[in-house]
Amino acid sequence: MWKGRDVISILDFSRNDLEALFEKADYMRKNQYRLKNELSDMIIGLAFFEPSTRTRMSFETAAKRLGADTVGFVSEEATSIAKGESFSDTIRMLDSYVDLIVVRHKYEGAALLASNIAEKPIINAGDGKSHHPTQAMLDLYTTKTLFNTIDGLTFAFIGDLKYSRTVSSLIFGLSAFNPKEIILISPPSLRLREEIRLVAEERGLRLREEESMEAISDADVIYVTRIQKERFPDLQEYERVRGSYRINKELLNKYAKDGAKVLHALPRIDELSRDVDETKFQAYFMQARLGIPIRMALLSLVLKGE
Ligand code: NCD
Repeated sequence: MWKGRDVISILDFSRNDLEALFEKADYMRKNQYRLKNELSDMIIGLAFFEPSTRTRMSFETAAKRLGADTVGFVSEEATSIAKGESFSDTIRMLDSYVDLIVVRHKYEGAALLASNIAEKPIINAGDGKSHHPTQAMLDLYTTKTLFNTIDGLTFAFIGDLKYSRTVSSLIFGLSAFNPKEIILISPPSLRLREEIRLVAEERGLRLREEESMEAISDADVIYVTRIQKERFPDLQEYERVRGSYRINKELLNKYAKDGAKVLHALPRIDELSRDVDETKFQAYFMQARLGIPIRMALLSLVLKGE
């Protein structure tokens, strides 16, 4: 079911695939510190053409907890790309060195291109503005861990819904389940792109757009995202929306349901106040922590299968 597969888009994975992943992640969570032999014969390539903190470090930690070695780079400047080497040559070379390649890139389609070049499995660690499948798997797993279900829940997405790949990927991932409703709250210029909305609706999701923060009152999961400054074609467009929304403790106390939880893929800039950190709503640190077992599960399933 998982062995040898490329992980390019979460749309390629069924509910059964994802449930098997969550089960494996539960196992990894319980046995995290005793699995040193699991992938001790493997080398994992980390090809990060775009900045990353959590995704890269959690893949690296996950690999090492399973006994695998890692090689890789953290920026284009650190590779021969800076000398003019092509993306394809870089991937082709890495493919001959390692057993699996994790790719992050600023351009959409980079992971798919890599999977056409490489024989070894490719895992997309975020490319462009639409796909970040492993973050979506992590976000679904966090939700499942918190609520014991994904079906029947209401999700509110807040912020830059236009350029945030964690938002579009999680919406795609939710379409494998039966959430009650998806509420989209954003400044008018940062609304979810039509192409994403169409796919989501075609796959049976109910989406509702709102501008006021009051709309979070129906949500079980409040998913906040930063404005993706680096993806704006025009920085003036960014300047116009910068600082236009902020989730804080007061707002949550006023509108959020008792059991609601706030998720954020991080990094946060100013859209999520630090005063939320000590509230009962905060779940983003647990979310970051679960990045390890979910990526351990992913590496193990893709490299070794069941
Ligand atoms: C996200 C990304 O790279 O898309 N970060 C992450 O993987 N945790 C979100 C972001 O950068 O805002």
